[in-house]
Amino acid sequence: MVVAIRADLAQVCVYVRPTQVERKYALRLGANQSVISTDLLVITGNLFTSNMAVMKTYFTLFTLWTFGNVACITVIDLSSKANVTWSIENKNGSVKLFGSVPGGIYSDLMKAGIIGDILSGFNDVASRWVAYDSWTYTGQFTIKEVPATYVAHLVLEGVDTVSFIEVNGSPVGSTNNMFVRYVFDIKPHLKAGVNEIKVSFASPIEVARSRSKKYFTAPACVPELYHGECHANQLRKMQASFAWDWGPAFPSVGLWRPAYIEFYDTAIIRSVTIHTSKVNAHWLLRIIAHLESAKRRQVYGYLTASINVDGNQTIKVGEYVEIDMREDGANEIELNMTISKNVISLWWPNGFGKQPLYDLHVIFVSNKSKEIYDVHQKIGFRTLEVVEEDTSLLPGNNTAGPGLTFYFKVNGYPIFMKGSNWIPANILPELGGDKKTVDSLLLSAREAHMAMLRVWGGGVYESDYFYQRCDQLGILIWQDFLFACSMYPADTEFLNSVKVEIEQNVIRLQHHPSIAIWAGNNENEVALRGNWYATSSEFITYKEDYIKLYVNTIKPIVEGLDPGRRYVVSSPSNGKESEQEGYIAQNPYDPSYGDTHYYNYFLDNWNQNIYPKTRFASEYGFQSLPSLLTMSTATKNESDYNVHSQYSVHRQHCPGGYGYIDYQMTRHLQLSTNDPKHFEKYIYYSQISQAMSMKAETEFYRQSQADWYTMGALYWQLNDVWQAPSWSSIEYGGKWKMLHYFAKSFFAPVLISPRRLLTNDVEIYLLNDRFVPVTGGIVTIDYFNWSSLTPIKSIMFAANADPLSSKKLSINIQLWKEKIDEIFLRFSLTADGVTRTPCNYVFPKPFKSVVGLKKPSIQIKVSNTTESVPEGIRYNIDITVDTVVLFLWLETTVPGGHFDVNGLIITNNIVSVHYVNQKQVLPHDLEKSIAYKYYLN
Ligand SMILES: *[C@@H]1O[C@H](CO)[C@@H](O)[C@H](O)[C@H]1NC(C)=O
Ligand SMILES: *[C@@H]1O[C@H](CO)[C@@H](O)[C@H](O)[C@H]1NC(C)=O
Ligand SMILES: *[C@@H]1O[C@H](CO)[C@@H](O)[C@H](O)[C@H]1NC(C)=O
Ligand SMILES: *[C@@H]1O[C@H](CO)[C@@H](O)[C@H](O)[C@H]1NC(C)=O
Ligand SMILES: *[C@@H]1O[C@H](CO)[C@@H](O)[C@H](O)[C@H]1NC(C)=O
Ligand SMILES: *[C@@H]1O[C@H](CO)[C@@H](O)[C@H](O)[C@H]1NC(C)=O
Repeated sequence: MVVAIRADLAQVCVYVRPTQVERKYALRLGANQSVISTDLLVITGNLFTSNMAVMKTYFTLFTLWTFGNVACITVIDLSSKANVTWSIENKNGSVKLFGSVPGGIYSDLMKAGIIGDILSGFNDVASRWVAYDSWTYTGQFTIKEVPATYVAHLVLEGVDTVSFIEVNGSPVGSTNNMFVRYVFDIKPHLKAGVNEIKVSFASPIEVARSRSKKYFTAPACVPELYHGECHANQLRKMQASFAWDWGPAFPSVGLWRPAYIEFYDTAIIRSVTIHTSKVNAHWLLRIIAHLESAKRRQVYGYLTASINVDGNQTIKVGEYVEIDMREDGANEIELNMTISKNVISLWWPNGFGKQPLYDLHVIFVSNKSKEIYDVHQKIGFRTLEVVEEDTSLLPGNNTAGPGLTFYFKVNGYPIFMKGSNWIPANILPELGGDKKTVDSLLLSAREAHMAMLRVWGGGVYESDYFYQRCDQLGILIWQDFLFACSMYPADTEFLNSVKVEIEQNVIRLQHHPSIAIWAGNNENEVALRGNWYATSSEFITYKEDYIKLYVNTIKPIVEGLDPGRRYVVSSPSNGKESEQEGYIAQNPYDPSYGDTHYYNYFLDNWNQNIYPKTRFASEYGFQSLPSLLTMSTATKNESDYNVHSQYSVHRQHCPGGYGYIDYQMTRHLQLSTNDPKHFEKYIYYSQISQAMSMKAETEFYRQSQADWYTMGALYWQLNDVWQAPSWSSIEYGGKWKMLHYFAKSFFAPVLISPRRLLTNDVEIYLLNDRFVPVTGGIVTIDYFNWSSLTPIKSIMFAANADPLSSKKLSINIQLWKEKIDEIFLRFSLTADGVTRTPCNYVFPKPFKSVVGLKKPSIQIKVSNTTESVPEGIRYNIDITVDTVVLFLWLETTVPGGHFDVNGLIITNNIVSVHYVNQKQVLPHDLEKSIAYKYYLN
């Protein structure tokens, strides 16, 4: 059944209430179509020329739906793909080129060949002139006539950052916040024929500098070795775009998110916020439609919301609306819905259940103009609380220590959060939402059993797509607001801009079941308390500004718009305890409260005994170098392939970075500076060292789950923005480092995890991250000599564990009784219904000083039989060895996939591994492409 057809400006919008036949037909038309519910199908696009006649004939066969003859609103897309010519010019007119919208100046200059690959060599610095210049984007588009609607709004979803905007020569507004959607009334300025939109960007570096003269806040600049720019804190712009310890500076400008013009008579729904709560046998769904129109207008219409629930049922509510728009042109309408628990399946984090999502469809039909505007969201039903509870109230609290718990309770279950930290997927904001990249990273996180990622405060509020994928994959999001490692101004202009930013982004993101918690900033509480930026003489002023921004401005907005979610003021913080202490706690790293960030490279990071306890580890990490393959995308210059090369020094932004890597790695591994393969080994060893450190630390946190002590481990950091030494587990381009393979194993739902104490006693923990107990468990401990694949002795004992627990087993191994130079221990577990849980090891001596390790002979065979799996094609690889092999590292030049395990400790003659790839290759070719490394003294 047809609801409406409206063709404007070569754009067609058709609402159909489809039968199966109709749906098939619509799909055959091949336009952009989205099924928005079982009720409606929307077809948009350029059907006009090709198919309109056919469609009209077809659709007249159907009767009109209940709304009668209604219409879609008209939108002119201003993206460069839609026949809008965007041209760019620099200040003095010496550089002219075509522009992209959405896009950015660095992308456009690269595309035009004016600058080279920005991530190559020293191009971050070589292309810096771009950020000092100022750029004007001019878009031209033709319309036959200006639609005769009451409202004509220019909508810019993302403007990076400081700009002045004109339409046909008349000023319409200015921008100063990259995270804000700007809406300008341009009705008086449009005309039939050619129209021109001009966006003049100021140099972000210059604006930051001049602003800092009025409202200086520390620090002035990033450390010199970042090769970055100063005063990023003055701008509401991705803070990492002025450089970070893991990334280069690209202070971009541009329209980084979509731009379009909306024409309508009455009102549109800009967003929908959703509040779900569980009351007895029902879910209450509170739906708030955020309407937008012109200021102080009366709007009449009908608002409906419908949701498809289990059993093919649709639940609908509706309400006649008569509302006055406020001065800002907006207002909200609320609908409540009660849904029986029986027709809803719960949404669970990855590893704990499925992620069912339900189609919610909200429609506003205006009374007079018969315009229809619909918003479609997929929502999930789960409860989630952050529990900060007096530990003295915990039953059996003998190990819980003083203070407050800090953990996430999902659908009533306390869940240990395993995961990592997310930095922007690209240093250029316009590329950070690239779906392939986002998919690849999130799928890698999911595969490594992660249930939470922290979207870190120096990046951006990610794209809708990012959060939709997190909803689908069960990845909870710890969302920082975008303030990081700095003091921030609290002048009126700044605070007003922040207000709009917080409002818009909370409203945009709030409905995602994946969002778990909001945090006001990254490390600013601890930076002020710890005097990181020499602020102690002005502590009081900075503290006042801190409270103005995060407590008086941001907190009430977040809690007002999203009362169901916890807002912590900072990460790390002591949570409620920081609030008690006036927001700048005496020790924001207090192990008894909230979350902590922990880095200490002066102690042996492979040793579990060095790590302090924490309630929740939201950051911890260690650096490694990216592979040669990844590095070769940045330089092919042989002389760069050296830790001391100018190139390598240029890319190491962590002060003392290589020193820390050396110090950690050479405690355990033998590396001679005269080795002809020194650099290659350095990379490989740095990855081993990173993986072993993070394994030790993460398992320490998982073990400490006993009695609610530690309830989260999010290591720093998941991804990278360039080819450089960093804390990431995935290299720029998507290749897994050894750490990511290790994460997949140390985050396994069921894991046997030893802890070697300083006394050389070994404790054993059984970690169980499932809702069912471990039953019928048998732990086997095999003692190996380094020289043989046959254990010298084996011990077996029974072990079980409660659901969602870390259990310290009663068996204790006394290693000090053994010849520890010659042996190591392997721990394995079998239990009812537990398939393939990783083995674990204790290596009592540093590898560099073990006795008996031999050079192995290794054969690698890829079998001709492959399997189709959801992720692609799976190849079976058999590895045959003749002795113990350490950190066997497989690499292939067949791109686009990864192994299921890697960096293997091999203690069996034959080991099977898989390679999963999207593209088909001949098994034989895969076999030929595989190269390997292993560790030998
Ligand atoms: C874009 O322009 C081309 C040629 O100028 C025209 O054929 C096409 O229909 C236009 N498309 C839109 C969406 O206006
Ligand atoms: C114009 O600007 C470019 C880029 O900033 C600069 O290299 C050039 O010297 C300028 N030319 C003149 C004539 O000022
Ligand atoms: C729901 O409807 C679809 C198609 O209309 C049908 O294939 C499916 O079996 C139905 N499911 C249930 C549970 O009735
Ligand atoms: C919806 O329910 C909430 C409480 O759950 C209540 O505060 C609000 O007034 C209700 N709104 C409407 C429109 O009934
Ligand atoms: C829990 O800890 C408090 C002190 O923090 C103590 O008074 C109480 O007895 C403990 N409860 C149990 C069950 O151990
Ligand atoms: C696997 O396939 C290759 C070529 O496709 C063939 O030469 C080889 O004999 C096959 N191996 C087996 C064990 O079938």
